[in-house]
Amino acid sequence: MKLFVTGGAGFIGSNFIRYMLNEHSDIEIVNFDALTYAGNLENLKEIDGDGRYRFVKGDICEYEHVKSAMQGCDIVVHFAAESHVDRSITGPAVFVRTNVIGTQVLLNVAKELKVQRFHHVSTDEVYGMIELDSKEEWVEDSPYNPRSPYAASKAASDHLVRAYHITYGLPITITNCSNNFGPYHFPEKLIPLAVTNILEGKKIPIYKPGNQVRDWLYVTDHCRAIDLVLEKGKIGETYLVGSQHREYTNLEVARMILKILGESEDKIEMVGDRPGHDVKYAINASKIRRELGWEPEHDFEDWLEKTVQWYRDNEDWWKRVKSGEYQDYYKKQYSNR
Ligand code: NAD
Ligand code: TYD
Repeated sequence: MKLFVTGGAGFIGSNFIRYMLNEHSDIEIVNFDALTYAGNLENLKEIDGDGRYRFVKGDICEYEHVKSAMQGCDIVVHFAAESHVDRSITGPAVFVRTNVIGTQVLLNVAKELKVQRFHHVSTDEVYGMIELDSKEEWVEDSPYNPRSPYAASKAASDHLVRAYHITYGLPITITNCSNNFGPYHFPEKLIPLAVTNILEGKKIPIYKPGNQVRDWLYVTDHCRAIDLVLEKGKIGETYLVGSQHREYTNLEVARMILKILGESEDKIEMVGDRPGHDVKYAINASKIRRELGWEPEHDFEDWLEKTVQWYRDNEDWWKRVKSGEYQDYYKKQYSNR
């Protein structure tokens, strides 16, 4: 079985490639990634020299290149995307290019090459937001209501994937997952930003009022869910993936990180809120639990502690990441808040 993985040099894609090579001896993987600011081959240095793995630097919007690289592959697992909500607010165009047009190019090539499966990795953010005092949880057929340019571009890509199934019979599956955390998470997202800022002697910027809620899932649980969907998922189906642990507000997460690192709460800096900020996401993952036997295996508090330790142990990795293009972004993003 040969997998064509897009965006495999990013956070979740690199964890997925490592996971699949560890779990399955009989697979080959082509990692097709443009190496944008978020793509980093260092994320995969442990598998350098593994004969089952090959990297191709390429842009998913470029039809000819995608077509030549996908030749001979059985399954597409599509992670490549622009993934950060704040960047989508300041520069939405690249989100439409990569997330919408790039997905359509991949779908077309997958159709032409008659791949056995096109698995699309998506987000719970397509469903919009839930009020803080509501007990509502999203299920697979909850209505789409994306509220950020990022979420809107992912929603458009989900619709295209379903349209290729209905119109052309492309064998697709989709997972919409909640917020992931773990090793190799780019330090512009809340958890790795908070941890690395503290390790650098800086503060944690929390968007006011800090009571917003996310459903954090350890990245390996997400990788296992995708593996199970590839193995047992029904063609044409969508599966929601989320942890369903108790709710943690952003301020609580920041306080937990400070406690693990032995720092006081004056290291939290309340900053201006994100425009159109979704206050809460909540997934009901009963379908994948019931139909595929998936369960999250990593407790949030234990694995937050282990993740913090990973950033402590891998200072070289995140210092190199933070010293690049990210510096300019960080200055722009937080200077007026
Ligand atoms: P990431 O930003 O860490 O990585 C994205 C990867 O895509 C990078 O390696 C980048 O180089 C590559 N890429 C970007 N544009 C490309 C292009 N035009 N051609 C080829 N490669 C390109 O993202 P992530 O957090 O690992 O997310 C991966 C996927 O999972 C995304 O589709 C995202 O929407 C989805 N998702 C993420 C989360 C999360 O919490 N991070 C949760 C649910 C779903
Ligand atoms: P983020 O990690 O950007 O993921 P997403 O917006 O896709 O859920 O943000 C997680 C939560 O943390 C979200 O409610 C916004 C908030 N946040 C902050 O309070 N401060 C920050 O510096 C960042 C990046 C996020």
